[in-house]
Amino acid sequence: PRRIFSGIQPTGMIHLGNYLGAIVQWKKLQDDNEDVILELADLHSITLPQDPKTLSKNILEMTATLLACGINPDKVLLFQQSMVSTHSEISWLLGCICTMARLNHLPTFKEKSASLKDIPLGLYIYPVLQAADILAYKATHVPVGEDQFQHIQLTQDLAKMFNNRYGYCFPIPHAIVTDNDTSRLKSLRQPLKKMSKSDPDPKSRICLLDKPEDIAMKLKKAVTDFISEVTYDPENRPGVSNLLSIHSFLSNKTIDEICRESQGLNTGQYKTSVADAIIAHIQPIQKEYYSLLSDEKYLFQVLRNGAETAYEISHATLKEMKQKLGLEVLL
Ligand code: TYM
Repeated sequence: PRRIFSGIQPTGMIHLGNYLGAIVQWKKLQDDNEDVILELADLHSITLPQDPKTLSKNILEMTATLLACGINPDKVLLFQQSMVSTHSEISWLLGCICTMARLNHLPTFKEKSASLKDIPLGLYIYPVLQAADILAYKATHVPVGEDQFQHIQLTQDLAKMFNNRYGYCFPIPHAIVTDNDTSRLKSLRQPLKKMSKSDPDPKSRICLLDKPEDIAMKLKKAVTDFISEVTYDPENRPGVSNLLSIHSFLSNKTIDEICRESQGLNTGQYKTSVADAIIAHIQPIQKEYYSLLSDEKYLFQVLRNGAETAYEISHATLKEMKQKLGLEVLL
């Protein structure tokens, strides 16, 4: 049987990349009655400096966001990573079989550490903690956007190494990505780069909680090119093609249909239709979000309930790993 595991950092606001690349997939798996476990990866968030008050607020806000997007805590196991101590413990055990050479190759670390003078150790071993998250639940499938691919590969390698050295413990987990462009949504300002929470330019991304007028403004400023027709050509026209991918997904129309409908429009006029489609899709989510956020006790209760079950499952794995490693005294 499949077991699905995925996570998201409760840092900053969710953007359309997170939404289309990950959350929409999670909801679909949930609705297909798959065994889904979702985590707010707050221990990953603190690998870069966070303001404590803001982080704590973000955790509840991310919970409300996920529920507003249709994640149902009665159907999936949703929890906050730092409430479940086994993740850190398993991370240590895996850290002892992971080589530094392997971590040096990961692009996320290279990118994030490039701008830092002093690099925290946590940022370096971040992917080991992510492997611990996944393996703690013996997950078989991990729905993520393309930027997480290499982390899943590392998880596979560590699972194989552990199995080989200490005896079979983990199934090898596989990444699930959507087969359309929503697994790698691009920045609105630099369409060769991914849409990202950490881009200093807020106009580079549409956030799920953006006001309609901001969405319209960001779309107006979205970088396209000098051809005025609306055509899909990701290689030569990444800007318009990115808009078409978003539009197609949110309106349930194929890219061909949209191109046909948009004949006669120039890209400037076309951007208004994209803005309208985005606004129509996210307005009900926003309404639900603000209503959920008014009941913080409920949100906290959801996380606490989730943590209890998560601990039970992951603790069994930790115990098995410890036995295999010889950390349990046999009398
Ligand atoms: P995070 O919080 O950066 O992103 C959450 C999810 O959103 C996807 N994503 C995108 N998808 C398409 N286009 C984009 N432009 C885009 N930007 C982000 C990400 O691929 C991700 O699926 N390390 C993880 C959190 C994590 C995790 C895990 C994930 C911790 N433990 C275990 C899976 C399994 C992260 O920082 O995601």
